[in-house]
Amino acid sequence: MAPCFILQRILMVLFTGLAESGSPVRGVVGQNVTLPCKYPVNHQNDITTMCWGRGSCPPSQCSQPILWTDGWRVTERQSSRYYLEGNLAQGDVSLTIVNAAEADGGVYCCRVEIPGWFNDQRSNLEIVIETGEQSFCMSVREG
Ligand SMILES: *[C@@H]1O[C@H](CO)[C@@H](O)[C@H](O)[C@H]1NC(C)=O
Repeated sequence: MAPCFILQRILMVLFTGLAESGSPVRGVVGQNVTLPCKYPVNHQNDITTMCWGRGSCPPSQCSQPILWTDGWRVTERQSSRYYLEGNLAQGDVSLTIVNAAEADGGVYCCRVEIPGWFNDQRSNLEIVIETGEQSFCMSVREG
């Protein structure tokens, strides 16, 4: 048990060190992970379309889009593991990924299409998936 515990401590320190640039969102394999994203809605007219994509936000729309809304509801999503659980009408478009896997790690783009030239709200968010305690110890033994 001891070597496994020590390795986990070292990993934790490594992750904490990396977190300083941009603070990635931590996820654990098999659990839900939520990427926060909001925009200001003061009036119904402010409600607008948005997309989530993988990779950083490109100059327009989302590259590798995974989910779209018409402002009021999700119109299309690439996987039933992607949910918007927040109140869309209040501008909460946070993305929840159900049953996270290691492959879900990486950068995501939240793009809110605010009308007008170059007005879009773009946020690049990073997910770091940590393997659970058990699977991590198992992978150490296998390696
Ligand atoms: C994960 O999210 C889904 C979809 O909202 C929900 O049904 C499920 O209960 C959540 N699981 C956990 C462990 O929170």
